[in-house]
Amino acid sequence: MPASRDHVMTDCLAITGESVARGVDILAHGGLVAFPTETVYGLGGDACNADAVAAIFAAKERPAFNPLISHVASAEAAFELGTATPIAACLAETFWPGPMTLILTRRPDCPIALLTSAGLDKIALRVPAHTEARALLEAFGRPVAAPSANPSGRISPTRAEHVLAGLGGRIELVLDGGPCESGLESTVIDCTGDTAHILRPGGITREAVAATLAARGMTLATESPPTDEDAPASPGQLASHYAPSAPVRLNVTAPEPGMELIGFGETGGAGELGLNLSPEGDLQDAAANLFQMMHAADAAGAAVIGVAPVPDRGLGEAVNDRLRRAAAPRTL
Ligand code: TXA
Ligand code: MG
Repeated sequence: MPASRDHVMTDCLAITGESVARGVDILAHGGLVAFPTETVYGLGGDACNADAVAAIFAAKERPAFNPLISHVASAEAAFELGTATPIAACLAETFWPGPMTLILTRRPDCPIALLTSAGLDKIALRVPAHTEARALLEAFGRPVAAPSANPSGRISPTRAEHVLAGLGGRIELVLDGGPCESGLESTVIDCTGDTAHILRPGGITREAVAATLAARGMTLATESPPTDEDAPASPGQLASHYAPSAPVRLNVTAPEPGMELIGFGETGGAGELGLNLSPEGDLQDAAANLFQMMHAADAAGAAVIGVAPVPDRGLGEAVNDRLRRAAAPRTL
């Protein structure tokens, strides 16, 4: 990873119209901006830009590509990205804007980068209530991917000082909106089916969700999946996760007939597309390109997809984690 990405000047500005405009400019150029929401501070990047999303994982040193929440300014904007089931529409009407994240099926024309949702066909969407956060989202006009703005494994930040202590030198800007009202992350609810499932408890209580749905004749599942954020109850954690239709072989250094070889560094790509995760051998670029290139190789109708060896350091650990899942025996 180039040194420049590890040593940026981090500005911390009180959140105003002017600093929000600066934040929008940074986001538009693929940079990272920490911003307050009513739950915790988020580490924001352009959700449609896989490079920016890879930079989020790098800045947090997140060990695996756990899917990220995309933040938008309105429910209308959310339902342009994910399919509005009756359950989702009901919960959005009641609890958005607010501390609630809905898991929806990605719409076919959804521009959110596959890395943002860890290659899943479900996406996480939230409309925060925080006034200035909404101003940032409205002005940017596109979804902002944002996990909590802390290094992986550390406590979520509820003040700009926490963000600076954890991520100073790794991100361009912290928008300081003072202490977060709640400090408890959003409630994550899977709304893709006929029954709602709470995947992570949070700012909106189970009772409130159940009562709201019951009033409209809809139901909340009673069983609750594990809630450990480092091992989320999401499909991203299954052994065979992103499975292209072609079989996947790892650590390939020479292509076989019919193989679409996705290269890395000096092991160049081969096959119809000649893809390379990063000709320069940059792991952050590889992370950004991974899901997109697997999709492209699959869409090209390859009999077998091969992937060149990727070193297991830094973001390479997460890249290899995802590659192992893609190559694992299929569970579906
Ligand atoms: O309050 C919050 O939710 C904060 C603020 C910044 O919005 N964000 C936050 O993000 O806590 P993060 O990355 O720390 O947690 C995201 C949660 C994880 O538990 C993740 O597994 C789940 O959302 N998630 C995201 N996308 C998912 C998907 N497609 N399917 C299932 N779970 C998903
Ligand atoms: Mg977190």
